[in-house]
Amino acid sequence: MHLTVNEKEENQTAPVAFILLDFNNDDLQMLFSIMFLTIYIVTMAGNILIIILVVTDQHLHTPMYFFLGNLSCLETCYSSTIMPRMLVSFLTGDRTISIKGCFTQLYFFGSLAAAECYLLAVMSYDRYLAICKPLHYTILMNDRICILLIVGPWIIACLVMSPIIFFMSQLNFCGPNKINHFFCDFTPMVRLSCNETDLIETTTFILSSIGTLAPFVITVSSYVYIIRNILRIPSTTGKQKAFSTCSSHLTVVACFYGSLMIVYVLPNMSSLSDLKKFFSLFYTLLTPLVNPLVYSLRNKEVKEAIKKPCKMLQRHYY
Ligand SMILES: *[C@@H]1O[C@H](CO)[C@@H](O)[C@H](O)[C@H]1NC(C)=O
Repeated sequence: MHLTVNEKEENQTAPVAFILLDFNNDDLQMLFSIMFLTIYIVTMAGNILIIILVVTDQHLHTPMYFFLGNLSCLETCYSSTIMPRMLVSFLTGDRTISIKGCFTQLYFFGSLAAAECYLLAVMSYDRYLAICKPLHYTILMNDRICILLIVGPWIIACLVMSPIIFFMSQLNFCGPNKINHFFCDFTPMVRLSCNETDLIETTTFILSSIGTLAPFVITVSSYVYIIRNILRIPSTTGKQKAFSTCSSHLTVVACFYGSLMIVYVLPNMSSLSDLKKFFSLFYTLLTPLVNPLVYSLRNKEVKEAIKKPCKMLQRHYY
């Protein structure tokens, strides 16, 4: 009898901080530190380069590149919600994160992820208009609509994420405080709570569907129309030209949504948690890395924009 009372008391001591069990591997700590630090530096450098090119190069002053530049802004923030905290864990071995810190990370990560989904959808809608409605493109994608399409994703993202965080802040945490993940994600956090979580899980499911499923449907339907339209072009070169303007974006979209689906659509089984952790790396860390890389390696106009300062330097020196 006494034992149970003691146990109960022990269970009710609320934790003051959470512990992030990232990859649970002390031997590989050094390797992970170097690998993730490299990814972070390349991600930041690549995205900042894209932002500089889009802002400074006159040839890139079109809606498509404005969206790309704004996506790069978003991705530098997105990457910074997870990476620095993770690197500190690897470098110092200190894996604790305050509960407030955890909520803050979840809020910014969640809203930036939703904003990213919507911005990717906006970019595919832009490609849809350019390829399927070329004659009306300049009217349909005017400055005002362009700004609306850039600001919209941020507003929707905040509207989706705020109620989730509000409901989560009502939860009590009492006892277990180990998060089996490398950042404070929704499911691992809710699992530590000692409240009934059905209602909050349903609410979150609905809200995150608005945040991710809606833009996914927009993206997929844009691409269905784009591909149907490209297949109708008679010449092979015409087909290639039309496809080349959207293939970079399609690569980024596939990487982002593919991994997002694996993580959130697979059932919540503990046997799958390592697999999910691995695929979480794709949408949290690799998408922001891949985006500037595919655009600078595959996109002709961005390549030209990168070459220009190099040529200017050459002329200056020789
Ligand atoms: C973001 O979009 C706005 C509005 O179209 C544009 O003026 C701005 O240059 C873009 N920002 C970047 C960094 O591309």
